[in-house]
Amino acid sequence: MRASSPPKTYRVKSFGCQMNVYDGDRMAELLASRGIAPAAEGEEADLVVLNTCHIREKAAEKVYSDIGRLQKADGSKPLIAVAGCVAQAEGEEIMARAPAVSMVVGPQAYHRLPEMLDKAVAGERATDTDMPPIAKFAALPARRRAPPSAFLTVQEGCDKFCTYCVVPYTRGAEISRPFNDLVAEAEKLVEAGAREITLLGQNVNAWSGEDAKGRAIGLDGLIRELAKLPNLARIRYTTSHPMDVTDGLIAAHGEVDKLMPFLHLPVQSGSDPILKAMNRSHDAEGYLRLLERFREARPDIALSGDFIVGFPGETEADFEATMQLVDAVGYAQAFSFKYSARPGTPAASMDGAIAPEVMDERLQRLQAALNRDQLAFNQASVGKRCAVLVERKGKKPGQMLGKSPWLQSVWFESDAALGEIAEVELVEAGPNSLAGRVLAPVSA
Ligand code: 5AD
Ligand code: SF4
Repeated sequence: MRASSPPKTYRVKSFGCQMNVYDGDRMAELLASRGIAPAAEGEEADLVVLNTCHIREKAAEKVYSDIGRLQKADGSKPLIAVAGCVAQAEGEEIMARAPAVSMVVGPQAYHRLPEMLDKAVAGERATDTDMPPIAKFAALPARRRAPPSAFLTVQEGCDKFCTYCVVPYTRGAEISRPFNDLVAEAEKLVEAGAREITLLGQNVNAWSGEDAKGRAIGLDGLIRELAKLPNLARIRYTTSHPMDVTDGLIAAHGEVDKLMPFLHLPVQSGSDPILKAMNRSHDAEGYLRLLERFREARPDIALSGDFIVGFPGETEADFEATMQLVDAVGYAQAFSFKYSARPGTPAASMDGAIAPEVMDERLQRLQAALNRDQLAFNQASVGKRCAVLVERKGKKPGQMLGKSPWLQSVWFESDAALGEIAEVELVEAGPNSLAGRVLAPVSA
């Protein structure tokens, strides 16, 4: 690799989940803190970070085609770093197959990107896929500006080993960031402009720590502590695992006003034999009972989930059980995916592969039901009054866009500033958003 001049501009392209987007934002801040500027719209940067996702599909193949396409206006290649979960899982292969890549950096090592960049500029290639627990957070610069709704990673990794999932291999074992660090970071985010904080983790409700007095606490304890921050208006968390739901977390939904009435609790399937083959450690009945308890604590809670169709061995009856579970829950929104065999996972070597056309058909039926329920949920919200956190400008002049407590997108005419909270009446519902009318002056 030839030496090159230090990059003046960067671009970070994130392809994955909220955690991946969070990592991408932090890498961008890290590069900015080194005096590198974000590239202008439509212009290729001197340094491109491909922040990859490994969870589904042929993500690795996409990385290679992206690498092939990257080109600056003068025809030269930018410096390329491959980050994220594909980097973690297939780092060596990427280095061998793609000579244009000078840096491969895993999701637990990206705080060392600046040093890798120095090497790359000197013409050396570098791979760092170490998994030092937590070290990265202390090494990252504080955020000086935060959006009205900001993410805060509190937990990473997964010990559940669902048989289809790469996360335990790419993100490693479950680790919780320490309580004091999180409270300090949340305070900084609020000072930097955040009104809402979404606590992030692959299994966020497995978070555990010790409070300021040294008492063992879980996610609900952290939420109760953060709720004391005066200028923080809203708290959310995602993603949860049914196994780590505690009585305290359910109770918090009934007791902490700032905790929004929304729960994303993936179930994946409504069939017990499939849940068992997935190693999910809960059955359909147990999942429904959990949701019932959340609803008792907070009757207006909006529910969300994740589904996989076409897991190996899924029969028509198994799929019907999923459809029945969907009918029983009435989700406000949900994510659904076709099963994708991931190299190295136990499910990848299971018998009973489902034909692609069967998967397609099941996904269509499932998504039709989920879309129907999402629209019904939005329609049932018409006439309600609620607080909307203003997050960005709408497409038309004078239009603002924000989120309801139930995570619905709401647009309305207003001169409110970003980060303000408007009292809004929901007047019209579509499948993906609602129209609102501002009732009261906004509260900053
Ligand atoms: N195939 C399809 N979907 C998957 N997910 C995770 N692994 C796979 C896979 N191999 C889905 C699950 C999970 C979400 C983040 O991605 O539904 O909850
Ligand atoms: Fe993957 Fe299961 Fe862990 Fe979620 S809980 S990250 S689906 S192994």
